[in-house]
Amino acid sequence: MYSIFQGRSFLAEKDFSQAELQYLIDFAQHLKEMKQQHLPHQYLAGKNIALLFEKTSTRTRAAFTVATTDLGAHPEFLGANDIQLGTKESVEDTGKVLGRMFDGIEYRGSSQSVVTQLAESAGVPVWNGLTDAWHPTQMIADFLTIQENFGNLAGLTIAYCGDGRNNVANSLLVTSAILGVNIRIVTPTTLYPDDQIVALGHNYANQSGGTVQITDQVAEGVLGADVIYTDVWVSMGEEAQFEARIKQLLPYQVNQQLIEQTKNEQVIFMHCLPAFHDTQTSYGKEAAATYGIQEMEVTDEVFRSAYARQFDQAENRLHAIKAIMAATAGNLFIPKV
Ligand code: CP
Ligand code: NVA
Repeated sequence: MYSIFQGRSFLAEKDFSQAELQYLIDFAQHLKEMKQQHLPHQYLAGKNIALLFEKTSTRTRAAFTVATTDLGAHPEFLGANDIQLGTKESVEDTGKVLGRMFDGIEYRGSSQSVVTQLAESAGVPVWNGLTDAWHPTQMIADFLTIQENFGNLAGLTIAYCGDGRNNVANSLLVTSAILGVNIRIVTPTTLYPDDQIVALGHNYANQSGGTVQITDQVAEGVLGADVIYTDVWVSMGEEAQFEARIKQLLPYQVNQQLIEQTKNEQVIFMHCLPAFHDTQTSYGKEAAATYGIQEMEVTDEVFRSAYARQFDQAENRLHAIKAIMAATAGNLFIPKV
């Protein structure tokens, strides 16, 4: 068997070509159809998969667990307090040990260098389940969702409104540019993405025919957009910054008025989740009590509207993660893309 993906880690989108990312999106679509038709797809039969989570998760953990099981493998959850990683044992040594026992390793945590070191030492595929820098498995699910809605990717326009320098913004910027999708990061100047990431995006966009635009002007940024995307204003680990972020980002809240400013009746709304669209969470209640706001990055009206695709995205995490795992850790015949 031969696969151009076999044995590779999935650490950041920039490590993959446009054709390779497109292949994973299409393979995820195929696996979604197989699951819907109850067709077996046990490409990892008999294997063992380690799931390392230093940060909390609902979708990523659930998707990796179910994907592993659907692929015929065994998932082993290793939470932040369960193993010695980084406290009593180096990342390198942990990677070497886990690589002797497991056939693939998922890692979620703060540091991109940890997931990179794991990949260098483990000798088996390592998958990035989110770091402060990138959220690449989210991207395969998101672009699958966009493709399901529009039938194609290249030439579409995404306007991301919110924290312009978090993992999801970084990943959307670079992945869009690789795939020939126009990406606009609509955010205050104080939250503009890192110059290196913008430069990377421009390089890819020059090759793919996409465009990269960073703006603090909402009306200009969302005009004509096919997709309005947002994420939490305060990412995991940044909770001390709630007050500052609310002040900075309230003008960028995705509400009905912002949706109408796209002047595109076919526009869809996307969010990687979890979302603060009401006060049904402890953070939501605290924000209401302290700052007098009932909704943060997206209003409840938009969240529950006909534009909303966030739960399709959430389901597609399963199919996307399955595609990434099967392609890299399975014995599939994928000679070229
Ligand atoms: N979107 C996402 O990664 O969700 P979780 O944090 O719940 O895994
Ligand atoms: N930017 C968010 C994404 C959560 C899926 C965070 O890092 O908390």
